[in-house]
Amino acid sequence: MPATIIDGKQVSASIREELTAKVEGLKAERGLTPGIGVVLVGEDPASQSYVKSKEKTAESLGIYSKTIRVPAETSEEDVLRLVREFNSDPKIHGILVQLPLPPHINENSVIFAIDPKKDVDGFHPVNIGRLHIGEDCYVPCTPAGIIELIERTGVELKGKNAVVVGRSNIVGKPVAMLLLSRHSTVTICHSRTRDLAAECRRGDILVAAVGKARMITADMIKPGAVVIDVGVNRIEGGKLVGDVDFEGALDVASAITPVPGGVGPMTIAMLMKNTVLAAERSLK
Ligand code: GUN
Repeated sequence: MPATIIDGKQVSASIREELTAKVEGLKAERGLTPGIGVVLVGEDPASQSYVKSKEKTAESLGIYSKTIRVPAETSEEDVLRLVREFNSDPKIHGILVQLPLPPHINENSVIFAIDPKKDVDGFHPVNIGRLHIGEDCYVPCTPAGIIELIERTGVELKGKNAVVVGRSNIVGKPVAMLLLSRHSTVTICHSRTRDLAAECRRGDILVAAVGKARMITADMIKPGAVVIDVGVNRIEGGKLVGDVDFEGALDVASAITPVPGGVGPMTIAMLMKNTVLAAERSLK
């Protein structure tokens, strides 16, 4: 039987529906409109397109959004100033600085400048630290979306072997921590892993977050595994494909996320969820 296709569009739509109701409630009962401030430096087409989607989604949910677009040559000091302005703006509950930043700007300096209480990306060391010790925090959006997809599919994580391919700060490391906190036995693989195929084949859950088109082939997947594909790669001819050979994996996995339409739509939904949470917490 071919794998069940995990529909990220559908799951994210139901999260957006829940959020719309919550935002309406906050406005009506507390006079509060959740707000997100976005900083976009430069003209990278992928970043521009992500930021536009974030603005559109915020608007459709009734969330106030303010995006500041500045040229690629903007100094680090000027970007830090924009972050600080958002930090002290009471209409802004969540702040997102779109990554990557141009090479003359130190990404960590900018991330460290975000008020951890407004860090809806969950990239500030305070939130990363809290995630590691199991305290309340803002969970990075893509990892949070991955867990939401797995859990809403009805898959039990406790005691399972989860294999994460990729060790980025944005996806690989935090998703590994979330899987661990849900009692999976977690392996993190990367470019220096010996016999990647053998490691992957141990995964009841396999998360691919590498950024290489179709590098996870059917022979690397354990029969019956749940496969989460985080990759978004444009191949010759303009088609978008994931890190997993989707067609091949369909015959081996029990469930798999497509690209596009899997993890992608979840990321923005979780960003909006974090922003609404930040607004709610600002009342306390
Ligand atoms: N660039 C790619 N993914 C992300 C993300 O989740 N947040 C931010 N700020 N930038 C990104």
